[in-house]
Amino acid sequence: MPLSPAAVPHPAAPVPEGGTRVPRWLAAPAPGWTTQADVIVVGSGIAGLTCALELRRRVDRVLLVTKTVLDEGSTAWAQGGIAAALDPEDSPQDHLHDTLVAGVGLCDPEAVRILVTEGPERVRQLVALGARFDTDEGGDLKLTREGGHHRDRIAHAGGDSTGKEISRALIEALHAVQDDPGIEVIEHALVVDLITAAPPAGEATVCGVTLHVLGEGQIDGVGAAYARAVVLATGGLGQIYTSTTNPPVATGDGMAAALRAGARITDLEFIQFHPTVLFLGEGSTGQQPLISEAVRGEGAVLVDRDGVRFMQGVHPLADLAPRDVVARAILARMALTGTDHVFLDARHLGREFLEARFPSIVARCRELGFDPATDLLPVAPAQHYISGGVATDHDGRTSLPGLYAAGEVACSGVHGANRLASNSLLEGLVFAHRIAADIGARLAGGELPQVAAVAAPARHTSSSADGGEESAAILDSRHRLALQRILTAGVGPVRSADSTRAALTACAELAALPMVELIGPRSWETTNLLHLGLVLASVAGRREETRGGHVRSDFPERDDARWLCRQHAVRRLDGTLDVTRTDVDHPEGLS
Ligand code: SIN
Repeated sequence: MPLSPAAVPHPAAPVPEGGTRVPRWLAAPAPGWTTQADVIVVGSGIAGLTCALELRRRVDRVLLVTKTVLDEGSTAWAQGGIAAALDPEDSPQDHLHDTLVAGVGLCDPEAVRILVTEGPERVRQLVALGARFDTDEGGDLKLTREGGHHRDRIAHAGGDSTGKEISRALIEALHAVQDDPGIEVIEHALVVDLITAAPPAGEATVCGVTLHVLGEGQIDGVGAAYARAVVLATGGLGQIYTSTTNPPVATGDGMAAALRAGARITDLEFIQFHPTVLFLGEGSTGQQPLISEAVRGEGAVLVDRDGVRFMQGVHPLADLAPRDVVARAILARMALTGTDHVFLDARHLGREFLEARFPSIVARCRELGFDPATDLLPVAPAQHYISGGVATDHDGRTSLPGLYAAGEVACSGVHGANRLASNSLLEGLVFAHRIAADIGARLAGGELPQVAAVAAPARHTSSSADGGEESAAILDSRHRLALQRILTAGVGPVRSADSTRAALTACAELAALPMVELIGPRSWETTNLLHLGLVLASVAGRREETRGGHVRSDFPERDDARWLCRQHAVRRLDGTLDVTRTDVDHPEGLS
């Protein structure tokens, strides 16, 4: 399947093109060691772990690398659960419909069909693997509801610790085979860049990664790992904003490396802002506590500072409307009442129920001085998820030969402009299986030969190893908060032509700073955020309408006549961005 129909040039850029140059490489020491595998999987959330486990059954040598430790990524933070049509009353067709509606016309219907039809079996396999989901007295999975779902279809574990339990089960499965020489795990390994071989024609072929390992012995510092295929499962970029529900590791490393190597990045303007993130004050930055949508699924309601419910009449599902609708209604209420937060009222659910159903949320709120059983919880939208990412086809193949992507780093097309709640764990699971099957079949068929890099990447300061392209200016880690403030103001939930242009100009100024001497993981991460910020501000500025998770204050309506399209960004060899668009047919029967 092609990644998408032919992309066409995009209308006028809102900013000086010269400001949006992205270098081919991050500045880094020359690799001091090398290793080799059949397939390298980068990341250890649900997508990475599933892919590694499945690949191991098909290829001789899998290398799994992860930035910190195995259970530190976004998966372990997922509270609500995993959506799948598991109830006899439910159907994949209903799940498909809810997903397409949430995606506001921009989902790839075939990708969604794959998700909802393969999903139930994949969740059952997770149970068989040892994931302990919450069940009723009869042993059946307890299913609940979240925003945008018309059925109870969210399986959860430990009440509100679904991601943690899935992560535990997958890591246990991995440990059970870790002595197996077919799989090697390297923790504390930050991928710096993708290594490519020069193309005889067409796109560069990915043949490995450079990575920085905080290790000991031979594998320490920057090295190069080569393979016949590389799978990115590195998660999202939430740390691009001042406040996010994402953990500190979510710095877009895989996505930025793919961008620099020339992969197509799609739908990056579609950031999801979760409506109910505990509001800890304006100055609170970094990862913020999420109050799961499942709390509203159990009956909690939103009220303003005067105690007035405001979701009724906004949408037929009221407080359980899709999360873009809820987030927007909250922003409107905040503007109307001149406040920086609203409240979530869960008091009527009762202490006993809340403690049993949401033990982690209740404990975290209490640590921070709020008791959901007796207090209104101050909440405001904060960054939660990115629907766009490295464009993939239905087997997880990206636009670069040899490179695959799964989970939040990828843009498989299942989320469109706005992800339906609890579809992300499912997406990681379903497409990781498909990637493993695809790579296994291709390797068995003699495809994906190991290609040699033109030269092992040298220290990238003035010219790169694959064609003399410009090398990376790199941000000092102290620039991170400045960058987060620029992007929060410019491409937050409310944006405009002026705000996106200002963000792009400010990012371009940061990109033009002289290279710092103290390069290392934190400055690589910050520079990754900068490179993605350049793309984000660029495509967000172009989209002159309100759709999905954001409001364009200068174009407050959805505009299907002009904007029923997806935007793509590709780094050209000279470092400038080529932004194109493909039109999308409006799915029948969806408003
Ligand atoms: C939540 O629990 O509200 C988050 C679920 C999700 O993001 O899918």
